[in-house]
Amino acid sequence: MNARILQLTDLHLTADPDATLKGIRTRASLASVLQAIREGVSDQELEFEYVILTGDLAHDEQLATYKALRALLGDWVSRCRLIPGNHDDRMLIREVFPELVSAGTGRITFSIESAGWRLIGLDSHVDGETYGRIGDDQLQWLAGELGAHISQPTILFIHHPPVIVHSAWLDRIGLLDAADLLDVVRSYSHIRGICSGHVHQEFSATLDGVQILTTPSTGVQFLPRQDELICDQRPPGFRIIRLNDHRFESNVVRLAESVE
Ligand SMILES: [Fe+2]
Ligand SMILES: [Fe+2]
Repeated sequence: MNARILQLTDLHLTADPDATLKGIRTRASLASVLQAIREGVSDQELEFEYVILTGDLAHDEQLATYKALRALLGDWVSRCRLIPGNHDDRMLIREVFPELVSAGTGRITFSIESAGWRLIGLDSHVDGETYGRIGDDQLQWLAGELGAHISQPTILFIHHPPVIVHSAWLDRIGLLDAADLLDVVRSYSHIRGICSGHVHQEFSATLDGVQILTTPSTGVQFLPRQDELICDQRPPGFRIIRLNDHRFESNVVRLAESVE
């Protein structure tokens, strides 16, 4: 059986519905992305099993912002899985999406099965910091999940990509313990991909047969391969992941225009 998964990332929503970030109304931009997906779903082109939200859901770490996100997702909430980015607040995510995340104060992760595949979400948020870190405890948990589901081809989701994207300012705020994560990844042969956000651009690399992908933001875009932050005028987007029997296919879809 095949399945389709959508990845949405770097929503950067605010409590003020009309606030702009780098000239983009991020809430209206997400609404346009969701609308485009809903139209695709009604044509059965975009029917999906899960939506994976890979962090920087809120830009302002406000309760009202997460509630606005929940309202925008509407009846899709139960099909969503989410992990935090550097801008997020775990406590508020837990408060607004209690059925999607484990209770307690620890990391927000997930490990689910879809069409014979394993999808694992990792939490790289570090309080007060822009860079990310997974930490030894979570790496141990990951190794346990990978070992317990060795027959399932697997995709990892993590906000901070574990590779450089050749933009000096972004590579300075990357994943601190990327090497440790990649050590774990290399010790299992059933990991097919790692999907990230954080860099607000499409990027791909292949490392030891593992596809490493980043996905455009649903709002603000960053121009690739720059030493400093320069916004990209390209419209917002999301990623479609198609899970086939032994491999996955993936592509980015962008809206026709930005929402300013
Ligand atoms: Fe972001
Ligand atoms: Fe980020």
